[in-house]
Amino acid sequence: MADDTGELEARLAEQDEFAPPESFVEQANVSDESIYERFEENWPECWNAAAELIDWSSDYETTLDDSNPPFYEWFTGGELNASQNCLDRHLDERGEEVAIEWIGELGETRRYTYSELHREVNEVAATLRELGVEEDDVVTLYMPMVPELPIAMLACARIGAPHSVVFAGFSAEALTTRMNSADSEYLITCDGYYRRGDALEHKEKADEGVSGVDHDVTGIVVDRLGEEYDHPMRERDHDYDELVAEQAGATVAPVDRDAEDMLFLMYTSGTTGKPKGVKHTTGGYLAWVAWTAQAVLDIKPEDTYWCSADIGWITGHSYIVYGPLALGTTTVMYEGTPDYPEKDRIWEIVEEYDVTQLYTAPTAIRAFMKWGTEYPDEHDLSSLRLLGTVGEPINPRAWKWYYTHIGDEDCPVVDTWWQTETGGMMVTTLPGVGNMKPGSAGPPLPGLDAQLLDSEGDPVDNGRAGYLTIQKPWPGMLRTLYQNDERFVEEYWSEYSDTDSDDPDDWVYFPEDGAKVDDDGYITVLGRVDDVINVSGHRLGTMEIESAIVGVEGIAEAAVVGGSHELKGESVYAYVITEDEYEESDDLHDAIVASVEEAIGPIARPEEVVFTPELPKTRSGKIMRRLLEDIANDDELGTTSTLRNPNVVSDIQQKVTDN
Ligand code: WTA
Repeated sequence: MADDTGELEARLAEQDEFAPPESFVEQANVSDESIYERFEENWPECWNAAAELIDWSSDYETTLDDSNPPFYEWFTGGELNASQNCLDRHLDERGEEVAIEWIGELGETRRYTYSELHREVNEVAATLRELGVEEDDVVTLYMPMVPELPIAMLACARIGAPHSVVFAGFSAEALTTRMNSADSEYLITCDGYYRRGDALEHKEKADEGVSGVDHDVTGIVVDRLGEEYDHPMRERDHDYDELVAEQAGATVAPVDRDAEDMLFLMYTSGTTGKPKGVKHTTGGYLAWVAWTAQAVLDIKPEDTYWCSADIGWITGHSYIVYGPLALGTTTVMYEGTPDYPEKDRIWEIVEEYDVTQLYTAPTAIRAFMKWGTEYPDEHDLSSLRLLGTVGEPINPRAWKWYYTHIGDEDCPVVDTWWQTETGGMMVTTLPGVGNMKPGSAGPPLPGLDAQLLDSEGDPVDNGRAGYLTIQKPWPGMLRTLYQNDERFVEEYWSEYSDTDSDDPDDWVYFPEDGAKVDDDGYITVLGRVDDVINVSGHRLGTMEIESAIVGVEGIAEAAVVGGSHELKGESVYAYVITEDEYEESDDLHDAIVASVEEAIGPIARPEEVVFTPELPKTRSGKIMRRLLEDIANDDELGTTSTLRNPNVVSDIQQKVTDN
């Protein structure tokens, strides 16, 4: 057995291109290679194919209105409702089929058929109306992975109230900022949830967050922990179960929304310390996630599809909730962690539910690899037809491990590059069409134009690193940053566009990722080129972390960079300078860690805190982050000749080694 594995690994190590399995191609939703050419010739009308996957209550007039770039509008004049698309339209044919298969960490399960989900979404929609929520009011959802989260999202969508989901792992302060920024007067939250068997209290954190909100808030609280936690209820709070029971059997007609009306806001990290409120619309977004879920994840109604992300991030919005439900399939939702109670939990679920597609993150795959093949080997994974990854680059070794040990060399692996801002997938192979190359996401999807440019805006040669750019708009794109058109233009378009022009050809979207492309047009994404780091596939702004650190008494200055980490991809390295009268100490270290957790959440906790008397700075006083990154990565140092204080570098290096 050991020998077989050795031979297999050796054979795979050499192979750098894999054809999709024939059995997959035969049944794939998309298997005709001409799609690339057809879409290019017929752009932008090619995207009517995406719009056709959803129901419109009024037909749209124009596929793309590009008269005012970069404020593009898609499917203009059309009207639709996202909850109707995810629920009502499936009732006749699939009402008794499972929509959400929910698995709690402690082993309890809840199964919602499409009719059951439809019923509860209607009741919650009626509840929201009763509480005074009106069309266009932003409702904040600060909830863990409980079924009430997607239910609340769809209830909001039903009445035309945009939702703003705040990841439950984020801090109270993060909740405050987001509720204030969105002027959100309604909050649905949860008393708590389970993590590795422990009950985690969540309500007090939510209360603390609301205490900082500068307007009145009405709250709804889901009781997940029952007897285990007697959670506090404030005057503003209502119990979810009680409210919904009052609305038993209520129906609410789905509100017609304009294609360009906001479906939701999602805050994400960027270069400055202030999170960006990414605005997604009803028509373009829904069409985009439905089309990509169909073409890339190969979702069919009879599938049991599982995306292991958290709904608090964009991946969960697009590929646990909206995409799969729009297509009428069964979507699995798992509350817990992959290693609880045992390291085979994921494979146990795949086997038990006959999961057909698994969509997860490289950080998880690296952990599975480390735990060893005995865990997947214990289970029958033959129900799997397709594997996917998202969130960060996947190294070829992890890709091959996934392909072999989980997919049994019989499932295509789609490595999908995209962002909160893009709404859905952008660069990936089509699993039924192109060959796969481990480590490379693949070509841009049909109908997309991605190019690599250098800092002058000139194309870079194949094989060389450059900046990834998207040259044409697409339906799922963000429309703006909430109430901040100026920052939208500045953050995403100013780098490579002629911002005075009203010719769409002069406008280029800049995702702030570095990449390279090979002779077949396959793109390998190298990582962020801005001040964002990617910890376990979670996008964090270094400026946000820095401002939390300098808020600690005794800290004068801080610089945060990402250092490479075997499992997390990147981890947080914080270089700090104390004020004169303070010195490095364990207490100060702990205060820094606590402050970051309080400002953002435990996911942003620094892996290393390095006290240093100085930070490397250019003569103009700019911190040389590249050098700090080199130190964190134990890489050869870039040039130090432009530094005002070149000696500091070796001192810092020494400290990191000593830590
Ligand atoms: C990174 C997550 C390499 C990238 C959907 C991007 C990736 C950022 C990949 C967006 C991939 C995402 N290969 N890098 N397949 N997918 N990224 O907004 O740096 O949380 O800009 O969206 O993750 O993170 P976000």
